Parts: sequence; C-alpha cells; structure tokens
Amino acid sequence: MQDAVADRTPSLTAMSSRSVAPLARRLLLTLALLTGPASAADVQELLQKYRCTICHAEREVLAGPPWVDIAARYRGQPQAEMIISTRIRAGARGSGLWHMPPHPEVPKTEAALMSRYILTFTE
Ligand code: HEC
Repeated sequence: MQDAVADRTPSLTAMSSRSVAPLARRLLLTLALLTGPASAADVQELLQKYRCTICHAEREVLAGPPWVDIAARYRGQPQAEMIISTRIRAGARGSGLWHMPPHPEVPKTEAALMSRYILTFTE
C-alpha cells in the first residue's frame, strides 16, 4: 500500500504547473456553476475564448443580435436557459442573412453559464 503511493508521487510532481492551471480553472468554473453564480468576468472570458464576441456584443448589433435583445426575447420564459444552451451548442438559423454556427466544443456546463449570463441583460 505504502509502496503504491510512493510510486505514484514522482509522476504527480513531474506535472508542470502549466498543464495543471487550465484544469484548475475549469474545475473552478464547474464548481462555480454547481455552487452559485460564476463571476461575470469568468463568463466574459468564456465568451472571448469561444469567439462569441466576434458576432455578439452586449448592446450593439454585429453579425448576431446583442445579448440585451436575446435576453428581452426570452424574458419570462422558464425554459429560456435550456433553449439557449442548446442553441449555443447546436447553432441556430433564423430569417436573417447570418446564422449562428454550432459550437459542439462548448461543454454543457459552460453553455449553461453563458446562457445564464446572457439572460441577465436588461434595457
Ligand atoms: C459567426 C457569427 C456568430 C458566432 C461566432 C456566434 N454567434 Fe450566436 N448568433 C449569431 C447569429 C447570426 C444569430 C441569430 C441567429 C438567427 O436567429 O438567425 C445568433 C444567435 C445567438 C443566440 C440566440 C439564439 C436564439 O434562440 O434566439 C445566442 C444565445 C447566441 N447566438 C449565443 C452565442 C454564443 C454563446 C456564442 C459563442 C459560443 C455565439 N453565439 C457565437 C452569430 C454568431
């Protein structure tokens, strides 16, 4: 038993802090989702990381609608967070010239965080 633990210790210490840091951040975000709201800064970072901000701004129309308009459209709908989370990952095609590309690489937990954040915008 003691030997098994001793054997595993060197490989753990060999892990560079560079490879551990993103994992730790991810764990923190997941924890934030499970235990309470993640900070706005955390979610803004996700929106940058997945390049949502190329097409979406908080209040201006870019290729996609601004967060404030999306929030207004879904105001009062109990299923809003779930619908938006699904659309983030699957994409959406409306009547406009542009469509929302699918983002299957976004984990469900992070899509939920982004949806919750988008829905907080008010006029
Ligand atoms: C290439 C541009 C583009 C990118 C990148 C993009 N979107 Fe969109 N998004 C759009 C467009 C255009 C629409 C409007 C789709 C429509 O209804 O025709 C849209 C719609 C949406 C909607 C509203 C869906 C609905 O049900 O009305 C949400 C929420 C959204 N995007 C979130 C995101 C998030 C989060 C990301 C990043 C993971 C992202 N978008 C990346 C262009 C983009």
